[in-house]
Amino acid sequence: METPWWREAVVYEIYVRSFADASGDGVGDLAGVRRRLPYLAELGVDAVWLTPFYRSPMADGGYDVADYRDVDPLFGTLSDFDAMVADAHALGLRVIVDIVPNHSSSEHAWFQAALRGEGRDRYVFRDGGELPPNNWQSVFSGPAWTRLPDGQWYLHLFDSTQPDFNWRNPEVHAEFLDVLRFWLDRGVDGFRIDVAMGLYKAEGLPDTPAESQAFATGSPIWGRPEVHEVYRAWRKVLDSYPGDRMAVGEVWTDSIEDLARYLRPDELHQSFNFAWLEAPWSPTAFRTVIDDTLAIGASPTWVLSNHDVVRHVTRYGEGLASSTTGLARARAALLTMLALPGSAYLYQGEELGLPEVKDLPPEARKDPIFARSEGTLPGRDGCRVPIPWSGVEVPYGFAPDGVTPWLPQPVEWAALTAERQAGDPDSTLSFYQEALRARRALRGTLPSRVTWLDSPEGALFFTRASLTCAVNCGPDPVRLPPHDRVLIASAPVDDGVLPPDTAAWLHTP
Ligand code: NOJ
Repeated sequence: METPWWREAVVYEIYVRSFADASGDGVGDLAGVRRRLPYLAELGVDAVWLTPFYRSPMADGGYDVADYRDVDPLFGTLSDFDAMVADAHALGLRVIVDIVPNHSSSEHAWFQAALRGEGRDRYVFRDGGELPPNNWQSVFSGPAWTRLPDGQWYLHLFDSTQPDFNWRNPEVHAEFLDVLRFWLDRGVDGFRIDVAMGLYKAEGLPDTPAESQAFATGSPIWGRPEVHEVYRAWRKVLDSYPGDRMAVGEVWTDSIEDLARYLRPDELHQSFNFAWLEAPWSPTAFRTVIDDTLAIGASPTWVLSNHDVVRHVTRYGEGLASSTTGLARARAALLTMLALPGSAYLYQGEELGLPEVKDLPPEARKDPIFARSEGTLPGRDGCRVPIPWSGVEVPYGFAPDGVTPWLPQPVEWAALTAERQAGDPDSTLSFYQEALRARRALRGTLPSRVTWLDSPEGALFFTRASLTCAVNCGPDPVRLPPHDRVLIASAPVDDGVLPPDTAAWLHTP
């Protein structure tokens, strides 16, 4: 049987509102995505994952869905969606869409009915007094409960405009099976499942122990065993469609065993592997993550950044004197990740080496985390700043000239536009293109195992048959392992020496 596409795919995350604005309202849209698809095909990715573009009041950037079967006017129309999918497929790109089953927007018709006292059992409502029904806190800060004027409380693990569904109600199940079919019928190749370890809450909604960490195994809030039945049902729907339709879960958990349960053969095809993204710049940390991931035995994934975390150029450079080190490490990490078996998920803008924008003014910040934490947490806007495509003035081709983007772009980004980097063989964009080409050339030829080689202190060497990958996380140059040719390197490697913060792919006879 042929290997399904998603097993070794490079998937590019499009945070739609910040990717490309064709309509000129300062917010990215589906027509903008469509125009830029040739850029992605040329970059060399296999698929795109689009963050939510459904009808939404945008209290959480679209992760607050008011209608799961329609496109928000901000992003276009269903025909724009269809045209975008058709173009993507014509370019050989698969399309993954986001599905948000843990909660809806408070503007969803069901919640509006619930506010009128109808169908409250589709959400998690409880009677209570002056105090909320339990001690649960919102992931976005503050209590996870809001009280209505009639005295009932409803649960929202995120913003108060994102009420949690009651998955113990069969109507909720049926609704999502239908939503899956709606988008599958429109030709999508897969789903990214938002908060996939959410959905069910422990019966009786007991308090969380005071000392418990976010997303801890055994929590009454996350990773309840019943959720697996949902994914078994979803898998059956996906399998009933022609082509390799897939699902990748956003599963935050502190345990590999727990993660593995989502990846049983009749459940999700993949889950994001956040362990790599959380690991420090350290060969031992990377080796542990790789060993643990491969031990699961399911289809591995690797991810360095997404729209919820600080961009990895900045993460890897945190606390260092040189501002170039973060970028050097980011390029080395990419090459290491691409050398591993499985799929790689890239986040828009990382191919341009974009850093986190840390100095957004408070009045520009839109992430509900900023407001809910009363400004004590910066939120995630810094990794969501619109992409600089071309030109030397804001909005750098993100939107038509003269349009103000929904988040301000830094002046330094004039030097980082895709246009400028495309013409420079040493740019991060050219490096990404070259790395993705090299990966494609090897696709299907390498074993799914990784063999560790002895490596000097600070470095990590591994092989997969003819490919050896060497990454140097230490402060001193190291000698490269045996090879007959350097295939690609994240920075120049001369005379058999691998400098600090550099990775190389070597051909081994
Ligand atoms: C995870 C999404 O990636 C994030 O952006 C969102 O705020 C939460 N889920 C809630 O839907």
